[in-house]
Amino acid sequence: MSSASSAAVGPPPGMAVRLSSNESPFGPSPAAVEAATAALAEGHRYPDDQAVALRTALAEHLGVAVGEVSVGSGSAAILMDLIPEACRGGEGTAEVLAFERSFIVYRLAARNAQATYVEVPAGGPATLDADGYGRDVDELLARVTPNTRVVAVDNPGNPTGTHLTGEQLRSLVEGLPEHVTIVIDEAYHHFASGQRGYRTVAELGLEHPRLLSLQTFSKAYAIAGLRVGLVSGGADLVGAIDARRPRFNVTAPAQAAAIASLGDTEHLQRTISGTFEGRERMAAGLRELGVPFTDGLGNFLTLELGTESGPISEAYAAHGVGVRPLLPYDLPEQIRVSVGTPGEVDAFLEASRDVLAEVPSRG
Ligand SMILES: Cc1ncc(COP(=O)(O)O)c(C=O)c1O
Repeated sequence: MSSASSAAVGPPPGMAVRLSSNESPFGPSPAAVEAATAALAEGHRYPDDQAVALRTALAEHLGVAVGEVSVGSGSAAILMDLIPEACRGGEGTAEVLAFERSFIVYRLAARNAQATYVEVPAGGPATLDADGYGRDVDELLARVTPNTRVVAVDNPGNPTGTHLTGEQLRSLVEGLPEHVTIVIDEAYHHFASGQRGYRTVAELGLEHPRLLSLQTFSKAYAIAGLRVGLVSGGADLVGAIDARRPRFNVTAPAQAAAIASLGDTEHLQRTISGTFEGRERMAAGLRELGVPFTDGLGNFLTLELGTESGPISEAYAAHGVGVRPLLPYDLPEQIRVSVGTPGEVDAFLEASRDVLAEVPSRG
């Protein structure tokens, strides 16, 4: 967490503080940088298409067989293979089921699969006393049809930050028929584990013949720019998804950096605790300002403005702080703000005192 590594992932020119993309502000592990740099010297060679060393390290890390894990150039790219694969065959138009305001790639991948994207209504916005966008497993189960091929759940969810508890996740998986492929997307699990009932698929030991969990090196491991995601589950299903992957799509520096990241548990722990601290300080500052927000378990908070987000985002930008408006998620009066370094959190809170002074949502 040196200032040098923070600078290395610094904001684009013109924006001093970039809190718009749920990246780790603490930068990659120095060991990952070193490993990727060494791999660059061999840049004339194609990477190992099967990523054997990385998959072996992951299999050990996850306690699964090597054939039960595959990697791709980010979990978003894996989803673009996974959802069409799971929608293949069968009679009738395939349906992909997800909660309202889930990670947008589920919708894009369903479109690629020529499937119908079915959204399950979720709860309303946060208030000063309660988080927003709660999800009801029974509501989702009630919408399963013989045409439902995929249920995709981001847990915690992006951009709302809401999560299913371990108990809720168990009843979801136990309630889904065997023909449905279940994708539990745990991109932010490092920031959530052990808190407020959250559990990963692996921690719960859940079983279902078509259960997949998706994770990424883009968040807590902080190599978003190198693009490495992973999927784990039954070997047949994982193999079929991997067969769709464009060959050689995880580069050698990316594979090397991912292996080194897995090994640097100290850096990971510093990133996780730095994120907790930043998230808590941001939450405390927003409470002081009387602005409702969902205090989610990801590396970001979702704010309720009570007014259109465009001018607010621009006002933040004028302070050099980049935040994320959420119009594509049908959330016109909300913004998502990623946790930054301590200095970036200070900058966000200082800007907020000015930008949010007059917003209607203040209690
Ligand atoms: C819920 C969720 N899943 C998956 C991803 C994709 O991550 P990547 O493609 O970088 O692995 C993101 C990125 O923001 C996300 O929020």
